[in-house]
Amino acid sequence: MNVIKVKNKEEMSQLAAKHIIKKVTDAPHSVLGLATGSTPKETYKELVKDYIRNGTDYSLVKTINLDEYVGLSSENKSSYHYFMKKHLFGYLNIKENNRYIPNGETEDLKEVCLQYDQLIEKMVVDLQLLGIGRNGHIGFNEPGTSFNTKTHVVKLAHATRQSNSRFFNSIDEVPTHAITMGISSILKSKEILLLVSGSHKAPAMKHLIENEAIDVQFPASALKKHHHVTIIADCEALSLVSSYVGEN
Ligand code: F6R
Repeated sequence: MNVIKVKNKEEMSQLAAKHIIKKVTDAPHSVLGLATGSTPKETYKELVKDYIRNGTDYSLVKTINLDEYVGLSSENKSSYHYFMKKHLFGYLNIKENNRYIPNGETEDLKEVCLQYDQLIEKMVVDLQLLGIGRNGHIGFNEPGTSFNTKTHVVKLAHATRQSNSRFFNSIDEVPTHAITMGISSILKSKEILLLVSGSHKAPAMKHLIENEAIDVQFPASALKKHHHVTIIADCEALSLVSSYVGEN
């Protein structure tokens, strides 16, 4: 894993956006794996700024999102469908039928998972964007999830629901379940870009960088099995890491 240390979230977002823009410019048919949450928000803002200023073309790009809550309609302001529209899809020229997000609204979630896996098999992700949970989750793969899992329905850890309650009126409104791409699917991506910002993520970063063990109790440790992972993390996120990491 290549770790790039940056000053703050702003620098992290600019660098991440630059990386994505280069990928899309070099390979216009790129498949981007996308994440939601607080971490990539400013990166998406940078992509939108660039699109308006420089007209980077996304017309051939395909996107596939990591996860979605179970039981929220795509119109629900806390759904990841809504998030993606609000922060990215509403601006760039990514064709509607080239954007994929799991459908957490239907009755037949098993079928949704199966279809999503077929999709992932077909369109290999060129660049997967990730955030990390305080408990080391990636996507919604909570601690204890086997690294062999494909797309599945997960019961969200209390800590995750608590942390994500900031996007809802109260914790009671946070869905108890989500659909997520599995770790084995994430590891199939050709390249992974993990973004980390803030002191609340510092213990997770210390664990990821300083602990060599690959352990299902810390899902992000699976990334050590991948040959092309770049972590862009800010000073606060790296504040507990004593070993050397490259400065940007
Ligand atoms: C979101 C996702 C999650 C988040 C993680 C960090 O699509 O897959 O794994 O990346 O929960 O969330 P934030 O960025 O809000 O701290």
